[in-house]
Amino acid sequence: MLSNNPEICLQATGLTKRFGPRVAVDRLNLEVFRGEVFALLGPDGAGKTTTLRMLSGILAQDEGQARLWGFDTLRQARQLREHLGYLPQSFGLYDDLTVAENLNFYADLCRVPRAQQRQRLPELLAFADLTPFQDRLAAKLSGGMRQKLGLICTLVHRPRLLLLDEPTSGMDPVSRQEFWFILHELLKTGVTIFLATPDMDEAERAHRVGLMHQGRLLVAESPQALKEAFAGELLELRTPDLRAARRILTGQPYLRQVLAMGDRIVLTVDRAEAAVGLIEQTLRQAGVTNVQISETEPGLEDIFVQIMRRQEG
Ligand SMILES: Nc1ncnc2c1ncn2[C@@H]1O[C@H](COP(=O)(O)OP(=O)(O)OP(=O)(O)O)[C@@H](O)[C@H]1O
Ligand SMILES: [Mg+2]
Repeated sequence: MLSNNPEICLQATGLTKRFGPRVAVDRLNLEVFRGEVFALLGPDGAGKTTTLRMLSGILAQDEGQARLWGFDTLRQARQLREHLGYLPQSFGLYDDLTVAENLNFYADLCRVPRAQQRQRLPELLAFADLTPFQDRLAAKLSGGMRQKLGLICTLVHRPRLLLLDEPTSGMDPVSRQEFWFILHELLKTGVTIFLATPDMDEAERAHRVGLMHQGRLLVAESPQALKEAFAGELLELRTPDLRAARRILTGQPYLRQVLAMGDRIVLTVDRAEAAVGLIEQTLRQAGVTNVQISETEPGLEDIFVQIMRRQEG
């Protein structure tokens, strides 16, 4: 049953999409609330884009239902589109048109009356800091500027809900910061944002994060709640004898998990305080003495791995 709660602006129940034998999205149940930023986080091929395409009414699901602002994505796609801004993974800008011409084009496409365009389009350009570049060909824009232009093209009809597919992929940190600044400005105007990302750091900026793996939504929680639900505590171990240390520690009964991460080993233990002495002792007995162990906070990546293992086990 779909609810009538006005605070729920996106609701999916049992949403499923198959491509031949492959289940791209598997019985997705999800609610997104008005005014929140929800990040769908998952590796390549997890089913993020397929989810967004179904939610935007572009792709028909095989099973289940989705409603956005009460509109059914299949039966009321046209009405839905008036409230929706969808930024696909590769947004179709016209390289041979200028920044302003691209924006005009999308405003016409969305049937924004010319009188409104005259007021709104300069505002959007200013909003994205693109006014000085309005006569530049889209082909000559940097990656970050292209994404900003793509974003404002999806805003021409003043949507209440944005679906953004990996909006900052490939951006440098400064452009990404700017892009998020713009998203926060939009939030202040009451817009709700649903975005897909493969990037843990990006997902941390959202109010809630949904972890998606092989078409299934494993969990949807705030980053803080995910961290608190992490079972155990984490230790980081550094030593010049990294490989030896890893070999010795693997399989020790008091370690839940031993993971090599570049220049360090990350250990999951029940209680950090009790484990440090045991680890040092084990290593010392095997002749490894030069070790530094410190406690660390679990990141979304650690949490993701743990939840995935739990599902598989
Ligand atoms: N049109 C299609 N035809 C056949 N298979 C498809 C199609 N679109 C997606 N798939 C498959 O469905 C699965 C989910 O793909 P999807 O693009 O939704 O993942 P994603 O999470 O967006 O990945 P990425 O991070 O690479 O964008 C993948 O296995 C993909 O190969
Ligand atoms: Mg994708």
